Amino acid sequence: MISIPEKRVFSSRLLSFLLGISMFFLLISSSLLFRIGDNSFVPKSIYNLIVDSSVSNESKSITCKEMCPKSKPIKPLPSCNPNQAILKVFMYDLPPDFHFGLLGWIGKQNQIWPNVGNFTEIPRYPGGLNLQHSIEYWLTLDLLSSKTQNIPRSCSAILVHNSTQADIIFVPFFSSLSYNRHSKIQGIEQNSTNDILQEKLVEYLKGRDEWKRFGGKDHLIMAHHPNSMLLARWKLGSAMFLLADFGRYSNEIANIDKDVIAPYRHVVRSIDANNSPSFEKRPILVYFQGAIYRKDGGVIRQELYYLMKDEKDVHFTFGSAIGGGVRKASTGMSASKFCLNIAGDTPSSNRLFDAIVSHCVPVIISDEIELPYEDVLDYSKISIFVPASKACKKGYLLKLLRGIKKEKWTEMWENLKQIAPHFEYEYPSKPGDAVDMIWKAVSRKVSRLHYKSHRKNRYNMSQQFLNAH
Ligand SMILES: *[C@@H]1O[C@H](CO)[C@@H](O)[C@H](O)[C@H]1NC(C)=O
Ligand SMILES: *[C@@H]1O[C@H](CO)[C@@H](O)[C@H](O)[C@H]1NC(C)=O
Ligand SMILES: *[C@@H]1O[C@H](CO)[C@@H](O)[C@H](O)[C@H]1NC(C)=O
Ligand SMILES: *[C@@H]1O[C@H](CO)[C@@H](O)[C@H](O)[C@H]1NC(C)=O
Ligand SMILES: *[C@@H]1O[C@H](CO)[C@@H](O)[C@H](O)[C@H]1NC(C)=O
Repeated sequence: MISIPEKRVFSSRLLSFLLGISMFFLLISSSLLFRIGDNSFVPKSIYNLIVDSSVSNESKSITCKEMCPKSKPIKPLPSCNPNQAILKVFMYDLPPDFHFGLLGWIGKQNQIWPNVGNFTEIPRYPGGLNLQHSIEYWLTLDLLSSKTQNIPRSCSAILVHNSTQADIIFVPFFSSLSYNRHSKIQGIEQNSTNDILQEKLVEYLKGRDEWKRFGGKDHLIMAHHPNSMLLARWKLGSAMFLLADFGRYSNEIANIDKDVIAPYRHVVRSIDANNSPSFEKRPILVYFQGAIYRKDGGVIRQELYYLMKDEKDVHFTFGSAIGGGVRKASTGMSASKFCLNIAGDTPSSNRLFDAIVSHCVPVIISDEIELPYEDVLDYSKISIFVPASKACKKGYLLKLLRGIKKEKWTEMWENLKQIAPHFEYEYPSKPGDAVDMIWKAVSRKVSRLHYKSHRKNRYNMSQQFLNAH
C-alpha cells in the first residue's frame, strides 16, 4: 500500500490520481497472481504418468520428478465454489464393474472410486488406439477430483451429492472400453460382458427416480466409440449422449439438438507451439496415412488414392496407426502443410485431431462430419472443407491446395497453434482443455434443454384457469 503523509491536505484531483495508481497496482498484482497460478499447474506431460505405454512407445511414462520444475512449487488453487461452477453434476455410484474395474482396478472393500488425489493410485488407461475414445476416463477423473483437495483444476464442473441440485446426471459407464475390451463372448457364456453391462445399466437407470423425473433427458451418457452402447442406445435415447459423430445413429436416437460431440484423443504426440515447423520446414504438401479400402463411406479414399499417388510432394499411403505407425504419423504430419481427413467407416476419425496437434492444416473431406464445440469454434479459420463430390474431380484438390500460398497458410497455422490446447485431454484438467471445453458444451445443451421445457410451459397457466372453470 502507498503510505500517505498525515499532515498533507489533498486536493480531490490528487486523491483520484492516487486511487488510479493503486487500482493499477491492484490489477497488475492480481493478474500476476493469476499467471503464477496458471504456470504452476501440473505440467501437461503428467498425464503420461497414468497412461499405459505398453502399446506405443510414443507415450512413455514420465514422472513428475523429471518434469516438474523444482523452483516452482505447485500452488493449489482454491477449491471450487459450487456456486461458481457452470455445471453441477450428480454422478451415480455405479459399481466399479462399469468403470475403473474395466481397467483391472480393485478397490478396498466397498470402495467404489479410486483415490484420485494420489496419482500413483489412479488406474492406467491402455495406450495405443484405445486412447482415441478415452474421454470417459478423463471426464470421470475430473469429476472425482472436484471433490479432492489440493488438485489444481479448472472449475467448470463440480460434483454435487444431491441430485435435485444438479444440472446434469452423469452416468459413469466406460462404454468405449467395454466395447474395445469385452465384446467377445468368453467360453460357454451366452453374452459378452459388454452386452451384460449394457443390459444391467438400462435396468439400473430405468429404476432410478432421477431418470423418471425427466425421462432421462438430463442424463449424460458417454458413447464415444461408434460401436459402444449398441444395445442400450435404443432404450436410453432420451438422454444426452457424448459422441464422436452421428454416423451409426438414427436421427431420433442422436442428433445435434440434444447431444454433444467430443474430440477423439489424438494418438500422435503434440507439437509445442514454440517449436512448430513453419511453412518452409514442411516439405510435404499433403499427408494421408490410413486404411485405404474402407466399407461404407470410405470409397472416396480409394478414388483419391489413385488421383494422388504419383505426385511427388504427396504422402498417401496405407498403414494403421498402431505401434511404429504412430511415430511415423507424428513425423509425417509435422512435416506436412496439409493433412487429409477423409470419411472412412464413420464420418469422423482421430486423424483430424492428430492433424490439429501437429499444426498441419486439416483438409476435411467428409460431408457428414460433426465437429466438437463448433458453436464456439469456427473451423473455417483452421481448416479447408472440400465437398466429397468435388474432391474426386481430377486435379481439383491439388490445384486448390497448391493455390494456398505461404501467407494464407501461416494465418491458419497460427490459429491452429492457438486452438490446439482445446483438444488435449489431461488430468488434472486445465481451463480451455478438452475436458473443460466438453463441460462447457454440456452446459450449453443444458440451457437448451431448459429453453425447450420453458417453452412447453407457456400456455399452462391459461390452460389451468380454463380447466378450473
Ligand atoms: C500414494 O499411493 C502409493 C501407492 O499406493 C503409496 O505408496 C504412497 O504412499 C501414496 N502417497 C501419498 C502421499 O499418500
Ligand atoms: C436435496 O435438495 C432438495 C432441494 O434443494 C431438498 O429438499 C432435499 O432435502 C435434499 N436432499 C438431501 C438428501 O439432502
Ligand atoms: C443374452 O443373449 C440372449 C440371446 O442372444 C438374449 O435373449 C438375452 O437377453 C441376453 N441377455 C443379456 C443379459 O444380455
Ligand atoms: C520401442 O522402443 C524400443 C527401444 O527404443 C524399440 O526397440 C522398439 O522397436 C520400439 N517399439 C515400437 C513399437 O516402436
Ligand atoms: C405444461 O404443459 C405441457 C404440455 O401440455 C406439458 O408437457 C408440461 O409438462 C407442463 N408443464 C408443467 C410445469 O406442468
